[in-house]
Amino acid sequence: MDDFLAISECSVAELHELLAESSSLKAFYQSGRRDLCLAGKTLAMLFEKPSLRTRLSFQVAMTDLGGHPIYVKPEDIGGIGKREPVKDIARVLSRYVQGIMARTFEHQTVLDLARYADVPVINALTDWSHPCQAMADVLTIQEHFGRIEGIKIAFIGDGNNVARSLAFAAGKLNMKLVVASPHGYELDGATIRQANAFTPGCTEQSNDPFEAVKDADVIYTDTWVSMGQENEKAKRQKDFAGYAVDAKLVAAAPQHVKIMHCLPAYRGYEITDEVAESPASILFDQAENRLHFQRALLKRLMA
Ligand code: CP
Ligand code: NVA
Repeated sequence: MDDFLAISECSVAELHELLAESSSLKAFYQSGRRDLCLAGKTLAMLFEKPSLRTRLSFQVAMTDLGGHPIYVKPEDIGGIGKREPVKDIARVLSRYVQGIMARTFEHQTVLDLARYADVPVINALTDWSHPCQAMADVLTIQEHFGRIEGIKIAFIGDGNNVARSLAFAAGKLNMKLVVASPHGYELDGATIRQANAFTPGCTEQSNDPFEAVKDADVIYTDTWVSMGQENEKAKRQKDFAGYAVDAKLVAAAPQHVKIMHCLPAYRGYEITDEVAESPASILFDQAENRLHFQRALLKRLMA
């Protein structure tokens, strides 16, 4: 494994190894021990979009492992691919650091970084996917249900980057994902076909949230307005009416259902405050597991 760009590019064995390493490093750190396997190593972190969880969890993970993270704002370097080509940034950084992670608008930017860098590149969210999030989500599911295989996730909302990474995770790790979206906001057919090529029937698209949650173990949602779509906000808020995760929708799911959201959550839109704060909500376990997965990923790629 040289880079971490998409779950669809990883083997099933690699994904299981990453999950096992996440759990074992989590227990190791929680017992007060430290694994300084990245001492003397530096990670460059490039962000074209805001971030709380991804930025902080990577910074903490890198520090925990004895390494050094450097946060780079695009304006500091004159924009990614603006002052100089992405391929030059990749080659220059490869002479200074032992790893690069990037959060970008275009997925192609991360692919170009990976193509030209001599060091591992990590996708920290693009418009197309959010693989680190989906892996932390799978880790959270494993902890709450004691298994991954056969777990059914009903994703209510936009067929976006997060939904796409969950579809690939479902395909590779034998879960079931139903994405319930309004017309025009469905997960694209190519993603559904690719996920189903890994595990036939693992991913379905629907327009009916109540049907989707009927036999779900997890109800998952994300913002209706992803970063970069701010100018579509009013239209999206109108189009997604009826797709909120509220008490009525949760009541249509089995009693044991857990509520997940990658955060940040826009209460009163895709999720009500009541549901986000309910005993079924595991939002903050998910957020915590970003750190535990990221430690395992950095160790795997950079140690
Ligand atoms: N879930 C997530 O990636 O959060 P941030 O945008 O705060 O990193
Ligand atoms: N779909 C959201 C996820 C945020 C973590 C976005 O891209 O803004």
